[in-house]
Amino acid sequence: MTAPEPGPPRERLQKALARAGLGSRRACEELIADERVTVNGQVAYLGDRVDPEVDEVAVDGVVVGVRPGLVHYVLNKPAGVVTTADDPQGRPTVIGLVPAEPRVHPVGRLDLETEGLLILTNEGELTHRLTHPSFGVDKEYLAEVDGTPSRGALRRLREGVELDDGVTAPARVSLLSDHLLRITIHEGRNRQVRRMCEAVGHPVVRLVRTRIGPLTDRTLAPGEWRDLTGEEVHELRLAAFAEEDDDGDRGADRSTRRSGPRR
Ligand code: URA
Repeated sequence: MTAPEPGPPRERLQKALARAGLGSRRACEELIADERVTVNGQVAYLGDRVDPEVDEVAVDGVVVGVRPGLVHYVLNKPAGVVTTADDPQGRPTVIGLVPAEPRVHPVGRLDLETEGLLILTNEGELTHRLTHPSFGVDKEYLAEVDGTPSRGALRRLREGVELDDGVTAPARVSLLSDHLLRITIHEGRNRQVRRMCEAVGHPVVRLVRTRIGPLTDRTLAPGEWRDLTGEEVHELRLAAFAEEDDDGDRGADRSTRRSGPRR
């Protein structure tokens, strides 16, 4: 008799879910028992095992990153640091501010002089979801501007500003004080906030990103980073998929979206 071929490493589904931040193993067992979990599109059952390297696990239809070794950081980017891995001009990079291993990449970019929250991860799917214009989650900025925007200027910012690459989508804009705007956009065009403000006659003097979808952090000093909690990562995933739900016809790849069990 020959020994059975060793299969791929498989682990209990609740263990993989717990690692991805969905709660304790006990809580994850409940998710499975409630038929809220699918593996490769099929409703999962208690006792199921998965190969976390290849199986696609989703909770309530939202794909969950269960691969071991995934890391997610949030950095408070200081001014004067570039959002690339290497800078030909030798300027400091955001990659130099976080652990070297495992290698991570920034999710989207902030201009050299822009400060504030930046996610870095080695998870490609989440990066795609958070940065692709089809899915873009809300990003909130505080913009200190030259002069005091009039009501007309604020309306233009809110309704859409003509830029050289087209009119901007509606934005949420409030004037917090004479020179300080809070602007929330979901597009991710190059230097968008700076160009919008400039277009209405109020160039940006200082720009700080204060929120990415559900993620905020007022405790990190410039240059500091921390791990995102599993819950924060899951909230970000939910936000990225929710954006897609708002407009089901965004024309982007929906292959990782799986319908959950009918309830
Ligand atoms: N908008 C900008 O103008 N710059 C950034 O860095 C981010 C958004």
